[in-house]
Amino acid sequence: MQPYLVGLRLNGRRVLVVGGGRVASRRVPALLAAGAEVVLVAPETTPALDDLVSDGKIVWHRRPYETGDCHGAWLVQACSDSSKINTAVADEAEAAGIWCVRADDAEASAAWTPASGQVGEITVGVLAGGDPRRAAGIRDAVVDGLRDATLESRHSRHKPVGVALVGGGPGDPGLITVKGRQLLAQADVVVTDRLAPRVLLDELAADVEIIDAAKIPYGRSVTQDRINEYLVEHARAGKFVVRLKGGDPFVFGRGAEEVLYCARHGVPVTVVPGITSAISVPSAVGIPVTHRGVAQEFHVVSCHVAPGDPRSTVDWEALGRSHGTLVLLMAVERMALIAEALMRYGRASDTPVAVIQDGTLPDQRALMATLGTVVEDMTADGVRPPAIVVVGDVVQVAREINMIRADMGRDP
Ligand SMILES: C[S@@+](CC[C@H](N)C(=O)[O-])C[C@H]1O[C@@H](n2cnc3c(N)ncnc32)[C@H](O)[C@@H]1O
Repeated sequence: MQPYLVGLRLNGRRVLVVGGGRVASRRVPALLAAGAEVVLVAPETTPALDDLVSDGKIVWHRRPYETGDCHGAWLVQACSDSSKINTAVADEAEAAGIWCVRADDAEASAAWTPASGQVGEITVGVLAGGDPRRAAGIRDAVVDGLRDATLESRHSRHKPVGVALVGGGPGDPGLITVKGRQLLAQADVVVTDRLAPRVLLDELAADVEIIDAAKIPYGRSVTQDRINEYLVEHARAGKFVVRLKGGDPFVFGRGAEEVLYCARHGVPVTVVPGITSAISVPSAVGIPVTHRGVAQEFHVVSCHVAPGDPRSTVDWEALGRSHGTLVLLMAVERMALIAEALMRYGRASDTPVAVIQDGTLPDQRALMATLGTVVEDMTADGVRPPAIVVVGDVVQVAREINMIRADMGRDP
């Protein structure tokens, strides 16, 4: 006979667990997550179960099973290491009309626990004819498919509405969040940026409208106005719009302007954070932005205007004086003025500097220099945006890591 799969809603309902060993330790957290009132009967427990008892999450009767323990339970888990006890528990449950799962004997068990997984509001349960490894493998495949959205339908009844501002990460398509990827797979319209992980757009269905924000005509500020209007227009037309941005939407990404515009126009907005290039691009070449004994702070600076420019609000004097790591975005074209200002305000000319272009992408390249040589080295190397400049002794840490790796015969 095939098993009949149901979803038990255990909230506030008693579940008896007999046995306090490894199996009970695995089952009890899932029962608690479903809201069950767990009563444990066992002479001994594992430390993990003991913690749950101390926290008041489960009730523990510290003794062997006794006839009558099943009374009042909706479900029984017979997990003791004695087959004799499990048989007694199962017999009592059967006589009382209570479902009992036996951990020791699948054939003798009235109910089976499926391999289960949770992705958002979706619960997956798999039974594979009594083969738990096979069931777990299939469960993993389905959960993975839901997480990366390859199984999620754009036409699901629970389709999101409005606009989702999704941080796409630094460029490597593997560095978008699970939630971001799920929302992208459900989009009707995607408004994308130049630095967003564009390879993900190839996976979208043919009828998804893709608007390249970088190609929207007119000047810079007009473009932002037009992007705002696109988001609202499409959302109001009943489309689910994903605004896919590079890095994190709130790090020099004008994300909050888009949120404000949508909010003012009554369009619901979800913000999905992304991995910012400010941390992930240095990390892609082994540079930690902080390191014990080397840097206790790091400053992320937008260099879209140069030091000394009346539009600049950056305190270059303070940055020159500080010992923290500097992570400079949009700095390539203004690097001469930046290096000069930092040295004028106190940074030594031999301060290590790294410049990373196209970080995390297949064309990634990195240049190691010092504050005194970086401009010349960047010109000689033909560095182009997008690039991140890291200033500080943390660059040396990456050098050290790479040297050790090279010594070990591995590619740095
Ligand atoms: C307008 S800012 C956007 C930053 C983005 N919101 C983030 O959190 O990463 C664009 C700048 O980010 C940096 N950047 C973004 N992606 C990069 C990458 N893959 N490699 C190097 N620099 C990158 C460059 O300095 C680029 O000029």
